[in-house]
Amino acid sequence: MAFDYDSELRYLDPSFRASLGIRSGDHVLDVGCGSGRTTRDAARIAAEGRVVGVDVSQARIEEARELAAADGLRNVVFEVADAQTHPFRDAEFDLVMSRFGTMFFTDPMAAFTNLARSTTTGGRLVMTVWQERAVNEWAGPLIDAILGDSAEAPADDSAFSLADRESTRSLLESAGFGDVGFSDVSRPVWYGADVDAAFDAVLQLRGPQEVLGRFTGAALHRAMGRLRTQLAAHATPEGVLFGSRAWIVVARRR
Ligand SMILES: C[S@@+](CC[C@H](N)C(=O)[O-])C[C@H]1O[C@@H](n2cnc3c(N)ncnc32)[C@H](O)[C@@H]1O
Repeated sequence: MAFDYDSELRYLDPSFRASLGIRSGDHVLDVGCGSGRTTRDAARIAAEGRVVGVDVSQARIEEARELAAADGLRNVVFEVADAQTHPFRDAEFDLVMSRFGTMFFTDPMAAFTNLARSTTTGGRLVMTVWQERAVNEWAGPLIDAILGDSAEAPADDSAFSLADRESTRSLLESAGFGDVGFSDVSRPVWYGADVDAAFDAVLQLRGPQEVLGRFTGAALHRAMGRLRTQLAAHATPEGVLFGSRAWIVVARRR
């Protein structure tokens, strides 16, 4: 079964939704929309407007199209597109939004400049991004536990590329946004109803996959055991929960 990202983020979503401030006639862009849950939610509110979801993944966009069609939504379109370079029209959107889809840009300056160009003057950027690895239990502590005594550091830090407030503020201001603000959101991520479900889910995540891929044979078996022990330690009556810290970043097109 595919990783259930919408369930993982169930406790973070209310804060993100509340910060979007979508109006009925808004034209909205959802960046790195994945299978389009946030895009569909936006389309229901922007009933007199139009919502565009873009993602570089063909598979996610096909899934998003199917889910939106099943919901009977007519004011939403999905495109396979790289937000860094896609030729959006100038000032096409009142709101550019993203739920954890803007940290993976290879050229963040080009990406946010392109997004600023596509935003109306006074229009808003609202995105949620992870704070640094160490304060996210699902990342630093969990990966360290899987690694055990291995001294190797996790390789891929892209999920945390916008964690530093000052550099993100400076990036957004250089790209054409102003009034940049950060709200601290501290809610757990949910990995499954029980340890077995969470184990299957976590094995689909890039970080754990990457570090487990460093082990073979008995060492791999021990690393899997360390992962299972961590999941058991985080099991609650509400499911397997790991602490997380995110920023909701809000900025305005100058
Ligand atoms: C962590 S997922 C979040 C998906 C979605 N926003 C959600 O909340 O379900 C990040 C998404 O960003 C997409 N992505 C990464 N780089 C991108 C880019 N340059 N342009 C568009 N999408 C991108 C990935 O394909 C992936 O689907």
